[in-house]
Amino acid sequence: MDITSEETRKLCTCFVLPTFNEEENIGQCIESIFSHQEPCQNPINVLVVDDNSSDNTQKIVMDLKDRFPELHLITGEKKGLGDAYKRGFAHSLDHLNPEVIFQMDSDGQHDPALVPKFLDLIDQGNDLVIGSRFVEGGSTPDFSFRRKLISKIGNLLVRYAGGVRQIQDCTSGYRAIRATYLRDCDLGFLSTRGYSFQSSLLCELVWKGAKAVELPIEFTSRKGGDSKLSIRDQVEFILNIPKLGFRNAEDFIKYSVVGLSGVFVNLGIYIALTRIFGLSEVIAPLISIESSLLSNFLLNNFWTFKKREVTSSLYKRLLQFHVASGGAACLNYLTFLLAFAVLGIHDILANLIGIAVAAILNYIINSNWTWRKEHGSN
Ligand code: GDD
Ligand code: MN
Repeated sequence: MDITSEETRKLCTCFVLPTFNEEENIGQCIESIFSHQEPCQNPINVLVVDDNSSDNTQKIVMDLKDRFPELHLITGEKKGLGDAYKRGFAHSLDHLNPEVIFQMDSDGQHDPALVPKFLDLIDQGNDLVIGSRFVEGGSTPDFSFRRKLISKIGNLLVRYAGGVRQIQDCTSGYRAIRATYLRDCDLGFLSTRGYSFQSSLLCELVWKGAKAVELPIEFTSRKGGDSKLSIRDQVEFILNIPKLGFRNAEDFIKYSVVGLSGVFVNLGIYIALTRIFGLSEVIAPLISIESSLLSNFLLNNFWTFKKREVTSSLYKRLLQFHVASGGAACLNYLTFLLAFAVLGIHDILANLIGIAVAAILNYIINSNWTWRKEHGSN
């Protein structure tokens, strides 16, 4: 493909279809997708990502290219479903100019008749539409009890560890994603190669502020062949859960480290002012407290929340940070009084409880107000 044609490509809706030995299904799947092209929507492109299938999958795709000029095929070594998706997304973003990217199984388990509904929901302002088996109206009629249980437990773990409780189906393989969000995603970070890529990607998109909605789907059985889900995939899925949890808590952990550094700044400056410069114990705290607020603000701005797209000015954020800190300091004092004077808790412990409660409030306010993630920014 030459550069000019890439630059002038019209926006499209791109389906990324991973395949591994899908000769029984891929042809029908591709035809069905193209049959749902609506005149008012962007043209459909289909990108098959085949991992050197040993059957006729690639030949069937190549033969269909005559009928469908917007059908593309890339091939590679088999490294797992997630790896195939990463390569497919990268290729699509680099060469096909997608506005929306669909993920879909190539085995007939996902019904292309729902495509217009997915696109309607994107048009309504959603950035991620999830074909969901676990919301009302969705189902998995042909799942064995064992597969259903694995899927349910897996989803529960992702929802709580990843902080995406609002999503019922975090592992679904049928999704429409606004391409700007994928461009913005650090796909390289998603170290998972197998099926757990699906849950990592979902969390990453939601953390980025993508507006997500679930569309009920019936997840029927494959048209032919067998599922490629392996034990290795299931082990990777479990090992990935703590990673999601840690990454979800990353901002809070960094924020706590900054808070701790503030204690040292405050104390260090206080000692220097009173012991070296001979300032009074009444004036010195004013300077040391403000210094620690400033150092905390700068560290949070340029480290903790560095990746957030915040549109407000630095001065406004500085002011908001002071308001939040003032509020938190009041809560610190009130909690201390309650714990010490009312509940009779030891004064040091009461103070520690006050600090902990205030730190959490402080984090919640600053994370959701001062450095609020802008929805839709990228
Ligand atoms: N290129 C490539 N490489 N494709 C692969 C690989 C791989 O290593 N492994 C699987 N695929 C393809 C399959 O050929 C199929 O088109 C699609 O990826 C999904 O694989 P299936 O084997 O059909 O998955 P499933 O039906 O058991 O699992 C479905 O449900 C899971 C959640 O329960 C899929 O939708 C998964 O994406 C989903 O996570
Ligand atoms: Mn499948």
